[in-house]
Amino acid sequence: MKTPFYGHERQYHNMKKEIDAAIASVLDSGQYVLGPQVKKFEEELAQYFGCKIALGLNSGTDALWLPLMALEIGAGDEVITTSNTFFATVEAIWIAGAKVVFADSRRDTNNIDPSLIEARITPKTKALMPVHLYGQPAEMDRIWAIAKKHNLAVIEDNAQSIDSRGKDFKLMDGSDAMGTSFIIQKNLGCFGDGGALVTNREDIFRRCEALRNHGSYKRSHHSFGFNSRLDSIHAAVLSVKLKHITEWSDRRIEVAGMYTKGLKDSGLKLPTVLPGYRHVFHLYVIETPQRDDMLKFLNDAGVDAKSHYPIAIHKQQGFPWGKDVDWNFRLTNTEANAAECMSLPMFPEIRQDEIDYTIEKCVEFCRKNKRTGD
Ligand SMILES: Cc1ncc(COP(=O)(O)O)c(C=O)c1O
Repeated sequence: MKTPFYGHERQYHNMKKEIDAAIASVLDSGQYVLGPQVKKFEEELAQYFGCKIALGLNSGTDALWLPLMALEIGAGDEVITTSNTFFATVEAIWIAGAKVVFADSRRDTNNIDPSLIEARITPKTKALMPVHLYGQPAEMDRIWAIAKKHNLAVIEDNAQSIDSRGKDFKLMDGSDAMGTSFIIQKNLGCFGDGGALVTNREDIFRRCEALRNHGSYKRSHHSFGFNSRLDSIHAAVLSVKLKHITEWSDRRIEVAGMYTKGLKDSGLKLPTVLPGYRHVFHLYVIETPQRDDMLKFLNDAGVDAKSHYPIAIHKQQGFPWGKDVDWNFRLTNTEANAAECMSLPMFPEIRQDEIDYTIEKCVEFCRKNKRTGD
């Protein structure tokens, strides 16, 4: 039996009529770039997040570095983030020209550990960029308190966790901006690449609005800029899909509950959800020291499990350390997670037999490979 990791085409077929009509309306309109569908989706997204403004962009990566640039954070500045993330988070800081500074993650949630942030602050620190990893928010209440104390900007990387919530906060309650990604595999995905930033700050919005379109504002170019426009077709699709996000997140949480129940005696390290948090399970990540063997076993059995992310960013060849490479630099928790993490198939349209089969194969591997002393 085959269990896929994603179910993009199932989702499309479930809502084909709505999606096809939305795409046809863009084609009929003749306005394909920054058209009315983009404006409409931006308004809906801002309202959804309870923020003043949303700006459609062509990727989640751009939604992180454009606000840094808008805040004039660049060469000579430092931005603190986590190494337990997708590469794009640090690329965004690097593209803006600032130095990437890491604080280690928590061993349980794998999100940045707020208690380790202050030790990394220097007079050059200008911003914090926490990531809401796998679907669970970082502890933003603690992070906002640190930012306030040290007068730092906060830009949230929310590429993976739309529709999540903290215990006593919602995303963006105390941040300057937040970037999100709509690449197809995300919880809210378009049929290609897309992203958006949301903010309550008019200055960040105005600057990013110009930067996304060659520095232009009301037909005159105020600065150099870039092409980071969200296409109207993607915006129209996203407007349709946004209406379903809560129902899809609820289903992800339900699937996660089944995995957790089925694997509770397996000896695997299962996801930790902080009390009161809404973890929307972009990824259901389990951990085992036998990760590579287990991944092969599952893949051979037709379960398309994957690993997010098997090499921590500070250990990646492509990480731009510059001349002062410190290869002894350690982020113990991030590295432990990288060595052991594995993601099970997770998407709202996954079928019951696929969930059962995935659990059965995980349990089978654990039984056959029970280590002495476990
Ligand atoms: C945590 C994180 N940050 C940033 C990004 C970048 O988003 P995009 O691929 O849309 O540029 C992604 C996903 O790809 C991500 O998972």
